[in-house]
Amino acid sequence: VKNVGILAMEIYFPPTCVQQEALEFHDGASKGKYTIGLGQDCMAFCTDVEDVISMSLTAVNSLLEKYGVDPKQVGRLEVGSETVIDKSKSIKTFLMQIFEKCGNTDIEGVDSTNACYGGTAALFNCVNWVESSSWDGRYGLVVCTDSAEVSLCVHQVYAEGPARPTGGAAAIVMLIGPDAPIAFESKYRGSHMAHAYDFYKPNLASEYPVVDGKLSQTCYLMALDACYKHYCAKYEKFEGKQFSISDADYIVFHSPYNKLVQKSFARLVFDDFTRGASSIDEAAKEKFAPFSSLSGDESYQSRDLEKVAQQVAKPLYDSKVQPTTLIPKQVGNMYTASIYAAFVSLLHNKNSELAGKRIIMFSYGSGLTATMFSLKLQEGQYPFSLSNIASVMSVDEKLKSRIEVAPEKFVETLKLMEHRYGGKDFVTSKDTSCLAPGTYYLTEVDSMYRRFYSQK
Ligand code: ACO
Repeated sequence: VKNVGILAMEIYFPPTCVQQEALEFHDGASKGKYTIGLGQDCMAFCTDVEDVISMSLTAVNSLLEKYGVDPKQVGRLEVGSETVIDKSKSIKTFLMQIFEKCGNTDIEGVDSTNACYGGTAALFNCVNWVESSSWDGRYGLVVCTDSAEVSLCVHQVYAEGPARPTGGAAAIVMLIGPDAPIAFESKYRGSHMAHAYDFYKPNLASEYPVVDGKLSQTCYLMALDACYKHYCAKYEKFEGKQFSISDADYIVFHSPYNKLVQKSFARLVFDDFTRGASSIDEAAKEKFAPFSSLSGDESYQSRDLEKVAQQVAKPLYDSKVQPTTLIPKQVGNMYTASIYAAFVSLLHNKNSELAGKRIIMFSYGSGLTATMFSLKLQEGQYPFSLSNIASVMSVDEKLKSRIEVAPEKFVETLKLMEHRYGGKDFVTSKDTSCLAPGTYYLTEVDSMYRRFYSQK
């Protein structure tokens, strides 16, 4: 089996959204804090008829239909999510409804959970399966689905909490198999996993996370450094030459908010400086020189270094990273789906130019788990071609057809969802006026906590 990777993709995000500028004003934050400070434009959220299960039902169904994939041809289904709806029953089992109908119950895989990393774990499981001796020749299917809005409620309780503008919601589905237009360079993976309390959800009766915002940023950057180091070492071992960011055409980051992506790319440029890599020219060396003796810890804390690095990195950021930022800026932090939504943005923006390109991916999940890996792209064969993937996902139409909601209405929805979290014995509004035909939605949770969905 050769070129195992992603054959097809679909993305779904709720049509309801709130503008970050309006939210700034509503929250009494200073003007520009969410839009320039965090770099976010807009945030999608689920109303009472949508959740991670309905979003993934919609996305899976749509992918199978639009690429003409027979549900019987799926042999593995893996879900990554950190939005816990049931502590025992996996989201995967809800999705089996689609496959059971077609008489296919022979499908391995369950859910993977560790903050925003679960989707990457699910993806690796599928890729590894196709590359293994237990592969039965059928497709793998990966679902990344999260709704980060509920986590915002806690900050509302602590009026104007800082994590509030960093919500979001989406589901992304990827079809996995050989001869893929988006192939894994499986030899070059660098991981960093450690024990940290930066962002976690210890209260099992609630969906709310406990967040140390500043620590989570530092953990993210430390994990990035470590993964990059391991990635480079593996590349150098196999290729016999040094790796630098010049060898990556695009770099895709887990994107909780855009400012962190800007800082992360700048950090990689600084890393190349400290490694003496060829990507750093004389002018950049001069600018970085005053920081060459900083210890690791000092370098994470230095605001001056952060500024200089972002300045040095700016032209490269514009060419290698900016094309990946559209959906994360427009939809918000989609947790497990976030990095893949950034990748979808790249497919959307640079579609016709991607054949032959190498994409570096950095996946981060608090707690913490992180991996840097790379993808090699080729045009592929219809329907599994880069151009068809971009056209099926129709990102522009999805973004344009959204319904902007006032912050007051958004907050009202959050309150309702907070009240319903973990609840039973209710019917939803069944208001599907905002949803596109074919979208799944939640109708009822009965007295036994069983959830029921319909399709519009
Ligand atoms: N105009 C322009 N910029 C502004 C303005 C303004 N009016 N006000 C503030 N800013 C800038 C700040 O200077 C800062 O920029 P900098 O980082 O370049 O210095 C930025 O906006 C953020 O301001 P802070 O005061 O640092 O923000 P706050 O204390 O509100 O916290 C944080 C931000 C930590 C991201 C918070 O939203 C949070 O905790 N989010 C959840 C955790 C998270 O997403 N972590 C990321 C990795 S883990 C994960 O993926 C869940």
